[in-house]
Amino acid sequence: MKKSRVSLRAFGMEEVERSLDWVNDDEVTKYTGTSSPISADEHRAYWEKELKNPRRKTFSIVTSEGRHIGNIGLLEIDWVARNAEVYVYVGDAQYRGKGYGTEAIQCLVEYAFGRLNLHKLFARVYAYNERGAKSFEKCGFTREGHLREHVFRNGEYHDVAVLGILRSEQRDSGQTR
Ligand SMILES: CC(C)(COP(=O)(O)OP(=O)(O)OC[C@H]1O[C@@H](n2cnc3c(N)ncnc32)[C@H](O)[C@@H]1OP(=O)(O)O)[C@@H](O)C(=O)NCCC(=O)NCCS
Repeated sequence: MKKSRVSLRAFGMEEVERSLDWVNDDEVTKYTGTSSPISADEHRAYWEKELKNPRRKTFSIVTSEGRHIGNIGLLEIDWVARNAEVYVYVGDAQYRGKGYGTEAIQCLVEYAFGRLNLHKLFARVYAYNERGAKSFEKCGFTREGHLREHVFRNGEYHDVAVLGILRSEQRDSGQTR
């Protein structure tokens, strides 16, 4: 699973350790589900269990220079309806906003449709996360609707956009940038 600048690699306990600072970074958590600080023990225990979850696939995002910059995966894979939710974060701040995350999503889309034979992927993106929504749209996702006042951040409720892509809507990888 490879694009010109990133590849998706295995995610194991070594990558779990490297991700602890990222899952506690406000610049990541303001766009993801985490709302309280996570201890090293909690983080390790969570992943020891989740790495065995058959309804999940997790990968590390690695640059062509071999640097682990973030993580991406499929959640709640429904093996009958053949759909799954995508989540992604570029944890290393210097690589955000430069297309690496978008390339990683494109890799995951190709993997999900081409190798797992899934039918549909979707993502939930907080309404204020314009970069996140744009990144998924660049990979062929379209807006399916929004969940009203669905998350609570900084003392306020926010809508959450739902973006989805069907296997038949998958584009050529060359169109992502
Ligand atoms: C969301 C994320 C994966 C996107 O990956 P990325 O490689 O950083 O995204 P890109 O650089 O391709 O940017 C996507 C688009 O958003 C635009 N963009 C970049 N920064 C932006 C910002 N601060 N505000 C609005 N748009 C922005 C870019 O211009 C780009 O569009 P363009 O290529 O047409 O110019 C990554 O930024 C990230 O990990 N963010 C933090 C966690 C997160 O939001 N995860 C997703 C939760 S659903």
